[in-house]
Amino acid sequence: MAFPEGFLWGGAVSAGQWEGGWDLGGRGMTMTDVTTGGTVSEPRYVTYIDKDGNHGKMWNGERLPEGAHYAVLPEYHYPNHEAVDGYHHYKEDIALLGEMGFKQFRMSICWSRLFPTGLEIEPNVEGLNFYKDMFKTMREYGIEPLVTIWHFDTPLYLVEHCGGWENRETIDHYVRYATTCFREFKGLVHHWLTFNEINNTIMFLPFTGQTTDEDYQHAYQHLHHKLVASAKAVQIGHAIDGDNMIGCMISGMPWYPSTCDPADILLSQHRMEEGVWYSGDVQCLGEYPSYATRLWKAHNIKLDITQNDLVDLAMGTVDFYSFSYYMSNVVTTHTAKDTVRGNFTAGVRNNYLKYSDWGWGYDPIGLQWMLEWAAARYDLPIMVVENGLGAFDTVEDDGSIHDTYRIDYHRPHIEAMSRAIENGVDLWGYTTWGCIDLVSAGTGEIRKRYGFVYVDMDDEGNGTMARSRKDSFYWYKRVIETNGEELG
Ligand code: BG6
Repeated sequence: MAFPEGFLWGGAVSAGQWEGGWDLGGRGMTMTDVTTGGTVSEPRYVTYIDKDGNHGKMWNGERLPEGAHYAVLPEYHYPNHEAVDGYHHYKEDIALLGEMGFKQFRMSICWSRLFPTGLEIEPNVEGLNFYKDMFKTMREYGIEPLVTIWHFDTPLYLVEHCGGWENRETIDHYVRYATTCFREFKGLVHHWLTFNEINNTIMFLPFTGQTTDEDYQHAYQHLHHKLVASAKAVQIGHAIDGDNMIGCMISGMPWYPSTCDPADILLSQHRMEEGVWYSGDVQCLGEYPSYATRLWKAHNIKLDITQNDLVDLAMGTVDFYSFSYYMSNVVTTHTAKDTVRGNFTAGVRNNYLKYSDWGWGYDPIGLQWMLEWAAARYDLPIMVVENGLGAFDTVEDDGSIHDTYRIDYHRPHIEAMSRAIENGVDLWGYTTWGCIDLVSAGTGEIRKRYGFVYVDMDDEGNGTMARSRKDSFYWYKRVIETNGEELG
């Protein structure tokens, strides 16, 4: 195996999916606090009270009806409220990660735990102390924090009352929040990611087939604001601490052509540009790529981009490229005979791959493909900061959990990373997703489990939150101990 000494083995969670404590410690609300649980076939809904006081629910992403406001309603269960209670279990969880030998733990800060509405000038001290203690605990176990500043959780107040990311002023609120993180956690944190899966903002637009040009206009402007906010944060983070390494985080999902028909090849290239490369190109190279004009023209997009924005984008390029990797997708200009549908996936079935219970096609070679493309395109260090299998686990009578399917998922992905390193990719780290079971972002389920650590909690909110070790826990511990030499 080709893993260099000091390779950053670890795992990842996000505040919204792990922390819980939604109404504790002065935290404000986020969109997930008003989002119900779903399944692979039943969407998650966002709940509200309309202008006449009636309860309502809508798809995530739909606009609130005139006069309505977001609300937690008694007839629904909101899985992110408690999540898996990392808020009270973080010491125990970090100790378990330490036992596995983690070198790095990727987690995120909940924006509204520091700035409850997003508009405050001074941060909430209780929130700051919570994260400081978490970082100190990690250091006791020799674990380096990798901190995502934004992982899908814009304060609800900013979304509801200020237009969220479509409003340019949100850039300033984010910058105030990011600056606070760099200042307050200076010396405790050196590795940062500005936005989780920033490209998701536009990647899924072509999925529904019903997206209007107006939707494209909103989404591209929203993304532009995030790209500027990211570039400003990178500059500030460097100015506050020269040791800070700040990366982008992209949903790295290959879009293969279904056939060797040149039209399919071109479609796959265009889908990669729109879905995957567009955001990373701006964050790594400091300007919009030439093909951006084609994308904007296709949907009559007229972006509000100021001269200062262009300067910020150029000055705020990232130090490393990171991405999540779960699966690949297939596109075609022909009528697909065999299709697949799951959460975050749709289109042509790839008969060379196996699919998970949630319709995600395992593709370890695709990880090597993604790594080698990104390395050639950006010539930057890379980290794979999410990868894993969401699966049903069974707890045996003696409490053991034999999750060989999870080990069988990770093993070939680790081998793929090793081959990429041999082929010249400067890969620094690997943080598996949901190293402790957590709430799925896509479906809101806990039974879609990714962890090496099991959490006793179900989708109706029943359980003790007790933690236990799965077979994969001992397996990953050995992988880390041997720096990837022993994969079982
Ligand atoms: C990524 C997100 O999209 O995929 C995570 O960064 C998410 O937040 C992960 O949990 C897996 O998706 P899901 O829908 O299985 O939770």
